[in-house]
Amino acid sequence: MSLISQGINGRTKIVGVFGFPVEHSLSPQMHNAAFRFQNLNFIYLPFEVKPQKLKYVLENLPYMGIKGVNLTVPHKEIAYNYVDVLSKEAKLIKAVNTIKVINNKLYGYNTDGSGFIKSLNSAKINIKNKNVIVLGAGGASRGISITLSLAGIRSLVIANRTYEKAQKLVNKISKLSEIKVFAIPLEENYIKEIITDMDILINATSVGLNKGDEPIISSKSLHPKLFVYDLIYSPSETPLMKEARKSGARTTNGISMLLYQGALAYEIWTGKPAPIKIMRNSLLKAMKSR
Ligand code: ATR
Repeated sequence: MSLISQGINGRTKIVGVFGFPVEHSLSPQMHNAAFRFQNLNFIYLPFEVKPQKLKYVLENLPYMGIKGVNLTVPHKEIAYNYVDVLSKEAKLIKAVNTIKVINNKLYGYNTDGSGFIKSLNSAKINIKNKNVIVLGAGGASRGISITLSLAGIRSLVIANRTYEKAQKLVNKISKLSEIKVFAIPLEENYIKEIITDMDILINATSVGLNKGDEPIISSKSLHPKLFVYDLIYSPSETPLMKEARKSGARTTNGISMLLYQGALAYEIWTGKPAPIKIMRNSLLKAMKSR
């Protein structure tokens, strides 16, 4: 019988997720299933932390004996400013999604980019020399676009509703990477012009997240050789994925990225290889029972 099912005791190590809101998070189910499976005396809890209080909460984290946290919307960029030591990836992306507390110091990591690449590998998508278009230029896009630009792709197009934000991200990437990268406005006529040369399209906007959202682009702007990756995972077939299916493109939703970024955080906290199958099944189960 696992320690968690026997009950929490005085030695239970606390980790969790800070978000605002946080109730939609599937991470507690995923991590607690893994702790139970590996018989680790850890518990993962959701904490609703107001953005204006994040600094205060982070400064006090070591004094409560909390071992680590994940950060989700809207905390990743703010947390970047309040950790003691930044990993290489967190520095590059200028955002922190995982903290580990070691000797009262906060170590900040970003597992989103590597989690994203692992999710592509697990779907057998080879990114070497591929032409990629990313929709969106917010926090999620930044992590993915920077990581991809350093991972061997051939070219990158960033399409955003606010063109200036796409241009700003392009400027940053040009300083980090040798690949061909440019910005376009997120409009079908611009996308149609370049889409035939693209191999992978990634939706990193929030469009599709809310019930009744229209697909961000229609099947007419897609093609069968494209791999369409929507970072949104609920509903499991997003409006964009429906359009992609109509066009004959292969698709995936964001569950696998959620899984792999979580698995990397788990490994940072516990020092043990994450039980991927168990974590994936618990995510799928949690999705169904929503
Ligand atoms: P996240 O951390 O999830 O990336 P974000 O930083 O707020 O969140 O970024 C949201 C992204 O979705 C942005 O690229 C945003 O476009 P703008 O920069 O123009 O705001 C995009 N987005 C949100 N609503 C959109 C909509 N209705 N149509 C097109 N893009 C939208």
